[in-house]
Amino acid sequence: MQIIRIPRIMQDEVKTQRMHGKSIGFVPTMGALHEGHKSLLRTSRLENDIVVSSIFVNPLQFGPKEDFQRYPRDIEKDTKLLREAEVDILFLPDASSMYPDGFSVSIDVEGLSEKLCGQFRQGHFKGVATVVTKLFNIVYPTRAYLGQKDYQQYLIIKRLVNDLNMEVDVVICPTQRAEDGLAMSSRNQYLKPEERKSAGIIYRALKSASEKIKSGTMDVAKIKGLMWDILKPEPLIAEVQYAGVYDVESLDELTEIKDNALLAVAVKFGDVRLIDNMLVVCNKPSQ
Ligand code: PAJ
Repeated sequence: MQIIRIPRIMQDEVKTQRMHGKSIGFVPTMGALHEGHKSLLRTSRLENDIVVSSIFVNPLQFGPKEDFQRYPRDIEKDTKLLREAEVDILFLPDASSMYPDGFSVSIDVEGLSEKLCGQFRQGHFKGVATVVTKLFNIVYPTRAYLGQKDYQQYLIIKRLVNDLNMEVDVVICPTQRAEDGLAMSSRNQYLKPEERKSAGIIYRALKSASEKIKSGTMDVAKIKGLMWDILKPEPLIAEVQYAGVYDVESLDELTEIKDNALLAVAVKFGDVRLIDNMLVVCNKPSQ
């Protein structure tokens, strides 16, 4: 596996590969890699000639009171995992090469960025859209692989690619979960043992709501109520930021469920913020 730290060198490398007709699969990450990232790498490996992954803890997408400083970093462990996943190139830039002095552009995907997590993380998606635009310009991938775990991020990146005429296929991959259903996340390692034990409740809330819909309850208020009734009494949950039923494209809260719906949740265990979601296709099996 080649490790490239300089954007210019990364660009030259992919240009050569693409000139030779090779497809490039790209998995952007912030490191602290786990099974969720691995599944994206596996799919990318299957579908492309060259696999590029990036590790960059992007300062722009963290708010002033968020966990940028303490975000888990373990480059040795990550490099080992990436080699095992048969990644060809790791792009590992530092902040000064991504954001040199005078850097002043930001990309704002209006509308979608203000919904759901946008309400609680001001500026977060602007930081994501800006770094992803740069990464796509540097890695110039044929396909980019993103997890359903961050469904809103996926929609925003799709919008970005569409609106800016970028030639990248954005591929969504299913959420990988622990045995109790908790979605794998780099942030799970912040949880205290007792919080980790009770965190499976997020999946149970989503699952109960999805089963209720599949058994014919289309009343959004009832479904939302069911989710809140499961999450709210849990003593280790400090805050339920949102839990509800949303349109799969606009992320607006639904008033009625027709063909499909997005069930989405954000809660805080202490100061650890966890998100998860489930897509429900009515009368058809979901994930
Ligand atoms: P990060 O949190 O490291 O996630 C990288 C990719 O892994 C994202 O597409 C995310 O949705 C996916 N992922 C995380 N947990 C997953 C799980 N349990 N199952 C499946 N996929 C999962 O998301 C980011 O980094 C950043 O915002 C980034 C896009 C790299 C821009 O900085």
